Amino acid sequence: MAFEHPITIALSKGRIFKDSMPLLGYAGIEPLDDPETSRKLILDTNHPNVRLLIIRATDVPTYVQWGAADMGVAGKDVLLEHGGEGIYEPLDLRIARCRMMVAGPLGWQPGGGRLRVATKYVNSARTYYAGLGRQVDIIKLYGSMELAPLVGLSDLIVDLVESGNTLKANHLEPREHIMDISSRLIVNRAAWKTKHKTVMRIIEQLREVVEAENA
Ligand code: PRP
Repeated sequence: MAFEHPITIALSKGRIFKDSMPLLGYAGIEPLDDPETSRKLILDTNHPNVRLLIIRATDVPTYVQWGAADMGVAGKDVLLEHGGEGIYEPLDLRIARCRMMVAGPLGWQPGGGRLRVATKYVNSARTYYAGLGRQVDIIKLYGSMELAPLVGLSDLIVDLVESGNTLKANHLEPREHIMDISSRLIVNRAAWKTKHKTVMRIIEQLREVVEAENA
């Protein structure tokens, strides 16, 4: 089945790619290369006018916002940090599910001073603590947040928790649940209009398979 318009879809390697493939496969889109073994950043697919961009998870909303990709798959955590400008988010793909949580050292109790919270999810953390009316210092990190409380950089962290094994291995415990996270299909606002028929067809097929898998 041919698509009416050329479509570029932005994805990140790893979990999102692995979990997106069966869904895209249902929509009839299959990559010709495996990004885990190929070093290509643009993957052709079985459709001559559909290609996949393999980029960092945090860059997916940016490529879609600026129209370098028509569509993409991005975690809600990443979308909240990006802000969502220029992007529609029509479908929760319900993949790569985890929880955004506040975590801290086992048994740790807050003292009198202002809390220090290390995270790469600065926007989400700020919104969360503002909602509680708690004043905290947020320390921006780019990864390995678990280290921060262990060496006195922060009291707490805001991070994603899936199995909880990373926290456990670092003598940390989950303390507060901020929100559930999953990956979303995102669409460039201009492509939504100019490539409407193709975009809608892909969305509807993905919606069908997501609903079937989560029935
Ligand atoms: C995430 C998160 C935790 C870990 C949680 O990191 O930041 O470190 O997974 O998973 P667990 O509860 O099953 O142990 P990820 O591996 O996605 O890499 P990142 O640090 O680059 O986000």
